[in-house]
Amino acid sequence: MSESSHSGFFVCIEGIDGSGKTTHARLLVKNLCSLGYDAVYTTEPTRYSIPGRKLRESFFAPERLPVEEEFRLFLDDRVIHLKDEVIPQLEQGKIVVTDRYYFSSVAYQGSRGLDWKYILEENLKVSIKPNIVILLDIPVDDAIERIASDRTEGVNTFEKKETLQKVKKIYLLLAEDDPYSIYIVNGSKPIPTVQDEIKDLFLSRYSKPS
Ligand code: TYD
Repeated sequence: MSESSHSGFFVCIEGIDGSGKTTHARLLVKNLCSLGYDAVYTTEPTRYSIPGRKLRESFFAPERLPVEEEFRLFLDDRVIHLKDEVIPQLEQGKIVVTDRYYFSSVAYQGSRGLDWKYILEENLKVSIKPNIVILLDIPVDDAIERIASDRTEGVNTFEKKETLQKVKKIYLLLAEDDPYSIYIVNGSKPIPTVQDEIKDLFLSRYSKPS
């Protein structure tokens, strides 16, 4: 794990597809900005890096990339994301809210059979630790229903029920392993309730940075 000497605060929102992480990450940034904080939203995989673009192209391909290749692309994209966006903004003292981070690699590439401890170790070599991780937890059936009703392009190959069940299981194992920095929030509640919970968790951690 690289030690980072930034003066900002790094928030990570995680969860299975359909859990509402993008909605809540964006809302959190909006709410923090209206409270006077300097907060910015960012996401992985990026839309601008070569590995990020390759990954996005693969989402709707009939066949998934081999898991090791997929894992490496996410890792390469993450390194670029950190270097170009996350670290510079943390160094400017900003609150950076990322919609997905290395926990997604552990859960998703882990769901395909890659050893999740190995995924975690490889990521910790190149990543900085977030100050707080919020895991939005919802039942897989509800997630699939939300994806199907929200999307015009339909469910992609990462979003099949069996995959999401495995992904969810790994996320919960990760949270069990690190209960002091990963908070599980029930994402099934109404948006304002979930958002208030996330904002309160942020404020409780922000006033006492570890
Ligand atoms: P998603 O958050 O759905 O992106 P967007 O809403 O911007 O299209 O992420 C796309 C997919 O990438 C999602 O199904 C999870 C997957 N993913 C991984 O498998 N590993 C990773 O390390 C990351 C960051 C994402």
